[in-house]
Amino acid sequence: MEDLVLYEKVGNIGVLKVNRPKAFNALSREVVDEIDNKLAIIEKDEEIRALIVTGDGNFAAGADIVAMVELNPEQARAFLFSDTFNRLENLSIPTIAAVCGYALGGGLELALTCDFRIASEDAKVGLPEITLGIMPGAGGTVRLPRLIGEAKAKEMILLGGQIKADEALKAGLFTKVVPKEELFDEAMKLAEKLAQRPKLALKAAKQSINNGKAQAEAIVKEADIWSSLFATHDQKEGMRAFVDKRKPQYIGK
Ligand code: CAA
Repeated sequence: MEDLVLYEKVGNIGVLKVNRPKAFNALSREVVDEIDNKLAIIEKDEEIRALIVTGDGNFAAGADIVAMVELNPEQARAFLFSDTFNRLENLSIPTIAAVCGYALGGGLELALTCDFRIASEDAKVGLPEITLGIMPGAGGTVRLPRLIGEAKAKEMILLGGQIKADEALKAGLFTKVVPKEELFDEAMKLAEKLAQRPKLALKAAKQSINNGKAQAEAIVKEADIWSSLFATHDQKEGMRAFVDKRKPQYIGK
């Protein structure tokens, strides 16, 4: 079987790529465990000065719904990705999400843990969890409002729609949008620029910015609330409906 996550070094830049294209890079526990394994390698590698996170074809269409349908709250809590996403956010080196295609749900939450997000013109982002009878659970309700403001974040989280690259750029979610064929080069250019900055000062500045967010407790609480929704009829119905490719019938229970 092909590796679910690819990692390579291009000079002193690390490139982490989610590689599950048939499922639009849906994030299963196995995919996230692989990301975690690669992060452990990256943390120990003194040579790496910046990291690009990307996906094959699409960035990632969220947590793997098929794997989540029948989970109970306890299992859902164990399935959740927050620890790995926090680990990525707190890497000492700068990180860049190079977003192509869909970045939805947990996929967008993965991109939100990076320091920068550059996108290709075909990028579409959203937090559609509400349409599945749940809510974002891997940092989305905490990181998105801080990044783009509460009103726009509430629009995205409570309505669950998708926005295109240009709208996401205007909202401040992306720092740059480029044609698809230029995405990787553009991310590399930024990574190389960052790699030339003094390492210790860069690390200190990033740490200080992250400390100022003081969000750790909110992310733990989000995970608890997220997991509790797996005891509801609407979560089972929303996810079964996705798998069966039909419209869900919600009853508010
Ligand atoms: N989980 C599992 N499988 C997924 C998936 C996901 N998140 N997203 C896509 N796939 C699979 C589909 O089931 C389908 O598989 P089959 O070919 O075996 O049927 C394949 O990828 C292609 O998907 P579609 O046929 O739906 O393709 P499309 O072009 O019509 O739509 C899409 C693409 C808009 C990404 C659509 O697949 C979609 O809406 N996906 C789900 C997005 C979503 O709701 N993400 C949030 C997940 S919950 C979450 O992330 C929780 C959290 O906070 C941690």
